[in-house]
Amino acid sequence: MTKQVAVIGSLNYDIIVKQQRMPYKGETFIADTLVQGPGGKGANQAAQCAKLGMPTIMVGKVGQDRFGDALVGSLTAIGVDTSYVKRTGSTGLGIVHVMPDGDYYSSIIKGANELITIQDIDEIVGDLMNAAFIILQQEIPQQVTEYIIKRFKDSETQIVLNNAPACHIPSDVLRGVNLLVVNESEAAFMTGKSITTIEEASSAGKKLQEITGDTVIITLGKEGSIAVNNEKNEYFAAKKVKAVDATGAGDSFIGALVYSLSKGQSLDECMKFATEVSAKTVMKEGGQESFPTEKELRKGLVR
Ligand code: RIB
Repeated sequence: MTKQVAVIGSLNYDIIVKQQRMPYKGETFIADTLVQGPGGKGANQAAQCAKLGMPTIMVGKVGQDRFGDALVGSLTAIGVDTSYVKRTGSTGLGIVHVMPDGDYYSSIIKGANELITIQDIDEIVGDLMNAAFIILQQEIPQQVTEYIIKRFKDSETQIVLNNAPACHIPSDVLRGVNLLVVNESEAAFMTGKSITTIEEASSAGKKLQEITGDTVIITLGKEGSIAVNNEKNEYFAAKKVKAVDATGAGDSFIGALVYSLSKGQSLDECMKFATEVSAKTVMKEGGQESFPTEKELRKGLVR
């Protein structure tokens, strides 16, 4: 049976500004181009899972506004089950500045994402039990994220936590996470140690793995990623590609990783596949629209 994933998290409407550099304090800087579209770490991760063909449900909240319409419409068109997305308040926004090398600076306005409650989760907990994986991030209230981790701790469902933006999480809660994915700055926040080298990333991964007791992945952008579990602590180099926009690349990586895990592939295979998929993502402008589909990958349509 094909495994189902439930993503419980944020949906943001992204305003992506491409520009040569960030302005200085007090400076008005003329940017190059504007790309608008669906985003939010939760919705992005759901979009990548569905684009690869995984049955995906999205649990979250958007506003009763045109941004909410656009977010629900685009996710539905990709094949995500959006019947668990409630409409209230105003839609969350992502304001992203993308530099010529593809690197980005991002701020979010939480909006309706902040209105998700524990009661919302309790209402659908029976349906969530059918999911092989639940993917979480930190753009919804942290108490809801922690509640879900604790609620599913001893269940068959695998909990994937992308602790982004980084939050302090008690060790006993982290113990319920099967797969923790963070980037280098989030890993530095969680361990209290700066990460500037692959060796430092590797020891941060080990430290976090000792807390979760399961698998930890640290993504390092252009440098690649580290995967740590009970048996290994391994570095995976990134693909050398011409990056134009890294918005959502980490989310694309996570979606691809979970898809690959759902196929029963080894951690090595999952890491290689996720590296490949996210490399394709950074080569195209925008967020979700830059994520490759299973068909595109199969036919070699994305290079
Ligand atoms: O990870 C990228 C995402 O982070 C963007 O889509 C933005 O909305 C923020 O949530």
